[in-house]
Amino acid sequence: MSSSIIGPEDFPKIKSIAIPPHPENPLLSSAQKEKLTQDIEGMLVNQNAVLVAHYYTHADLQELAERTGGCVADSLEMARFGTRQKADTLVVAGVRFMGETAKILNPEKRVLMPDLSATCSLDEACPAEGFIEFCDQHPDHTVVVYANTSARVKARADWVVTSGIAVPIIEHLAARGEKIIWAPDKHLGNYLRQSTGAEMVLWPGSCIVHEEFKSVALARMAKLHPDAAILVHPESPESVIAEADVVGSTTALINAVRSLPNKRFIVATDKGIFYKMQQAAPDKILIEAPTVGEGATCQACAECPWMGMNNLQNLAEVLKTGNNEIFIDPAIREKAVIPIKRMLDFAEKLKNARNKD
Ligand code: 13P
Ligand code: SF4
Repeated sequence: MSSSIIGPEDFPKIKSIAIPPHPENPLLSSAQKEKLTQDIEGMLVNQNAVLVAHYYTHADLQELAERTGGCVADSLEMARFGTRQKADTLVVAGVRFMGETAKILNPEKRVLMPDLSATCSLDEACPAEGFIEFCDQHPDHTVVVYANTSARVKARADWVVTSGIAVPIIEHLAARGEKIIWAPDKHLGNYLRQSTGAEMVLWPGSCIVHEEFKSVALARMAKLHPDAAILVHPESPESVIAEADVVGSTTALINAVRSLPNKRFIVATDKGIFYKMQQAAPDKILIEAPTVGEGATCQACAECPWMGMNNLQNLAEVLKTGNNEIFIDPAIREKAVIPIKRMLDFAEKLKNARNKD
């Protein structure tokens, strides 16, 4: 079967995803915290290791990564940063796909993660077997997957994209007249389809954090703060995106707080990002977008439960024990690295072209 008309009945059934409660990280006294951070700093130096943290992780981890010469970034920059390091070990504080991407790009390095069970609802919604079978049934489509997927899913893809580079890559493919299978985030896929006009079939996955933002309550909040700019990550539902002044990756949203003249911002993404936003523009006022409105269930309350599994204690523990190392089957790695590198090369060329203008 290679028909371009693919209906909902064509998609394999996805098992329901078990969402963990938001982790209660142990409260530390300032003396305990100082001792832990000193231990971690010492181990990073002794092991020639760097800490690579996502914007959604706890501020303690972001602060430590910055202070020790590591990086705090979106998923695109996290991937790039690892490839530029001379370090022997990358310690990735984020979710599993970020550690796997680091290992795929840097097979010679040791990649550790504070908690290997830190997954992502998008990754969970796209099991490799069903996905590969689906793609094989539609060989006339180009397969583009979000970085929030497993190594095996990436190995079946033609392109991997992150939210920071998705629009220009999809525009590029649409200009070549390619039909696209997009997985796993249906909301981001819908946003890409609408903003580029590309012909896209959307896998029915979603982010449990961004799906909780509610447009009715957001519009009500915007009325209370008419001077505020509304910032939305494109993993949010279409009705929430429709309320936005800026739609973009985590980095794009931080840049908007820095560069827009507004004093206030309503922010529809994980709260972890407030640490960097406040640092980028200390005089600006940041307001959390509502996750509870009509019909909301507030499963996540704008805090990714999997990102929340990273903390100073389990970071110290993996450096001490060497546990939680990421390994990727070499045959999978050999295939998965191709679409990831294709994305990084595209991003590099785009950056060079923009710098020339
Ligand atoms: P970014 O690529 O924008 O950092 O997004 C990753 C992610 O998981 C957002 O939920
Ligand atoms: Fe995945 Fe959503 Fe968590 Fe990002 S915020 S890691 S997309 S579950």
